Amino acid sequence: MEIRIFENANELALAAADIFATQIKKNPASVLGLATGASPVPTYNRLIEMYKAGEISFADIRTFNLDEYCDLPKDDKNSYYTFMHENLFNAVDIKEENVHILDGNAEDAEKEAADFDAAIVAAGGIDIQLLGIGNNGHIGFNEPADEFTTGTFKVKLTDSTLQANSRYFDENPMPHYALTMGVGSIMAAKKIVLIATGPAKAQAIHDTVKGEVTAQVPASILQNHADCVLLLDKAAASLL
Ligand code: F6R
Repeated sequence: MEIRIFENANELALAAADIFATQIKKNPASVLGLATGASPVPTYNRLIEMYKAGEISFADIRTFNLDEYCDLPKDDKNSYYTFMHENLFNAVDIKEENVHILDGNAEDAEKEAADFDAAIVAAGGIDIQLLGIGNNGHIGFNEPADEFTTGTFKVKLTDSTLQANSRYFDENPMPHYALTMGVGSIMAAKKIVLIATGPAKAQAIHDTVKGEVTAQVPASILQNHADCVLLLDKAAASLL
């Protein structure tokens, strides 16, 4: 694991966007794994700036998002479908048919998950995966557990995650289930970029970097990935 520490979230976002832009320039038909949440927003803003400046194009880019809530209308303001369109896709030239976001309302969740994994394989695998990290060490919605998960699956969210994300849900109650790429699907990405900012992430980052590899801290498995970089601000890195 490579670790890079930045003065603030803005500098971190410039570096994260640079890594993605370099990949996009190298292969304009790259397969990107994307994340939602607060952490990637400045990175997406910077990628939009680069697109508007004519430095990169998403015309042939394919994307797969890590996760999506179950039992939430696709166009709800808190769905990850809405998040990705508002924070990146609507502002760039990506083709909607190249965007893959799990359908959290699929009647057959197992089939939805299996089809998603098959689509990643058919696309040639994920070239570069962006990750945030939960306060409890989760990646995607892979919560602390006894065993590492493998492919995409339906998960019951933990109290820690419900507490962390419920701030966004003022109208509808927060869903208690989600579909998420499994740890195995995430580890299959050729390159992984994890971003973490703020003091609330410091313990999870400590356990991810310095702790043993354990499914109780799902992100700790990144120690075993051949090409993984952690981009941290000083607060998130404060316990290292
Ligand atoms: C989002 C995701 C989650 C978040 C994590 C951190 O697609 O998979 O694992 O990355 O919960 O969220 P923020 O960035 O809001 O602190």
